[in-house]
Amino acid sequence: MTNIILLGPPGAGKGTQAKRLVEERGMVQLSTGDMLREARSSGTEMGQRVAAVMDRGELVTDEIVIGLIREKLTSGAAHGGYIFDGFPRTLAQADALGALLSELGQSLDHVIEMRVDDEVLVARITGRSTCGNCGEVYHDVTRPVPADGKCVNCGSTEIKRRADDNEDALRTRLLAYYKQTSPLIGYYHAKGQLESVNGLAAIEAVAAEISGLLGSQTQDA
Ligand code: AP5
Repeated sequence: MTNIILLGPPGAGKGTQAKRLVEERGMVQLSTGDMLREARSSGTEMGQRVAAVMDRGELVTDEIVIGLIREKLTSGAAHGGYIFDGFPRTLAQADALGALLSELGQSLDHVIEMRVDDEVLVARITGRSTCGNCGEVYHDVTRPVPADGKCVNCGSTEIKRRADDNEDALRTRLLAYYKQTSPLIGYYHAKGQLESVNGLAAIEAVAAEISGLLGSQTQDA
């Protein structure tokens, strides 16, 4: 069992690579962004509370996201390991994850930073769409939805754009990343756990680089 963090700014490609690891290695993707969007669309009280915060591009409180992760980790084991996508995003969340994993007798095996330049992020974010049924990620230019409008993965025609995928919210999301999340790069470097990949490369090339870091360990799990 291998547990990994994919770390990087909005649009770095965390979700795209996490989906591939789920398919190829049987890992379980834990995306706090997806969990929060699910909560808001199901209209829970917590979902309503976080909706405006997310639309502005600000971070939701540590208490809420740590609670969501705790619930997932304590509700059953993922034999292929977990991919933490968009979590942790603050030092408090990183400490909480470390404590939670050791409480469960598990380890954090790889922290993979996806390095990108800010200039590409606007184009990636404003061109993104996602399948509302299975979460498959598309891009108007680099990975377009097929001409028949059907998701390649599940055949659904429910292709959506995110409310926070606009230039204003992206500016706030980037600021939050540099202010609150990028200190995690130093934190995991100091712990000797940080590895990096070139997130500017093509999707296949990034996948190959991540695969090289993980080796065959999760496939054997
Ligand atoms: P979240 O959903 O986590 O969004 P994010 O971190 O901003 O990341 P994105 O999903 O936008 O980008 P990604 O890196 O997954 O890129 P993707 O693969 O889609 O968070 C949303 C909000 O929820 C936050 O703002 C906050 O409010 C809240 N939240 C979530 N977690 C929280 C936490 N822990 N604490 C507090 N608040 C939290 O790719 C983007 C596009 O680029 C796609 O179109 C894709 O096709 C394309 N693409 C990907 N890779 C490549 C490539 N190599 N080459 C060319 N195109 C590519």
